[in-house]
Amino acid sequence: MYRGAFLTTPRIDIDSIRSVVREIFKQLDRAVIGYEAEKKIILASLLANGHVLLEGVPGIAKTTLVKALARTLGLSEKNVIDIKGTPYKGFSRIQFTPDLMPSDIVGSLVFNMVSREFEVRFGPVFAYIVLADEINRAVPRTQSALLQAMQEREVTIGGATYPLEVRDKGKFFFVLATQNPVEQEGTYPLPEAQLDRFMVRVIMGYPKSLDEERKILELHMSRLTEPVEDIEKVVDPTWVVEAQEYIAKNVKVDSSVLNYIVSLVRATRPEIFESISKYFELGASPRASIALMRLAKTLAAMRGSEAVAIEDVDSAVFYVLNHRVIPNLETVMELGGGFKARIAVISEGLEIAKKIARGGR
Ligand SMILES: Nc1ncnc2c1ncn2[C@@H]1O[C@H](COP(=O)(O)OP(=O)(O)OP(=O)(O)O)[C@@H](O)[C@H]1O
Ligand SMILES: [Mg+2]
Repeated sequence: MYRGAFLTTPRIDIDSIRSVVREIFKQLDRAVIGYEAEKKIILASLLANGHVLLEGVPGIAKTTLVKALARTLGLSEKNVIDIKGTPYKGFSRIQFTPDLMPSDIVGSLVFNMVSREFEVRFGPVFAYIVLADEINRAVPRTQSALLQAMQEREVTIGGATYPLEVRDKGKFFFVLATQNPVEQEGTYPLPEAQLDRFMVRVIMGYPKSLDEERKILELHMSRLTEPVEDIEKVVDPTWVVEAQEYIAKNVKVDSSVLNYIVSLVRATRPEIFESISKYFELGASPRASIALMRLAKTLAAMRGSEAVAIEDVDSAVFYVLNHRVIPNLETVMELGGGFKARIAVISEGLEIAKKIARGGR
């Protein structure tokens, strides 16, 4: 038996958060080689009670990573946890397709022929962790159903409202949506205003090195099943809610770091900083600064600190802002256009915004 796992939910304090987090990373590494930064940001978003947009080409372990994370919390498609009469799956995966309807996500009323009564069929959004695969393949109306559920953390079926998050019972609600950055025909890219619903956008590329590519093969060499199936549970899902609350209440942002966050976000706005207009057509909003502060707090907690450092903000900033700013189209075209050029302009602009913020202007 695997001996490193915590058999019960440990008492929550900053040291236990750090050790649970380490244990979770150890487990994730058993199924997904590399992607350290991405793993960290995804776990941080979960602990900051935010949702994740995962963008990347097919076949790079996006699904595997989400499944692996669910398994470290003992959550899978097989378990159903009943809370106040509502059944929540541990993990559910929704494949978005052009014919997917809002009721395929949320649920609907169905008529039971035997009891001659309507009853609720709870949709796959009733889960702790929802993997919304290829969200850009569904029509906007269906995308909206998920985005609204993410925002409101509750859904209405046949006039009755059901919560997706039940904090006093340790029920969290975490959505991870995947999207392919290569715009294909028949896809509906999420509009900018909707991207804001995601705390972070994580862009996953190919493995970094030859060595990582080899390790992936080695991992699969003597087996036919997926390594993710070997992942052990580390803590109960209720730990997530407890850690979220602990971090929210106890991790502090001192006045100089707070100034840095707001200066950084203001520095992305061309209306305020003329010089940034070369990079950004539209800057980030206060909603973005709240998300930035929350994620930075969680990153501080994950390294075992109750005080946010400038470095925590710096490690969060690209992930929190990259999908909330609009890059200057001319500069994007100068770099050849397309997704890569957009991202290059955004990262360069954010580096400059950091410099402006450090200058304290
Ligand atoms: N970095 C990696 N570490 C370990 N296994 C990997 C890695 N990258 C890919 N794989 C393996 O490649 C296969 C594809 O992974 P997965 O299904 O998670 O990809 P995906 O990104 O979700 O693809 P798609 O976009 O097609 O859904 C799996 O067998 C997975 O274990
Ligand atoms: Mg997948």
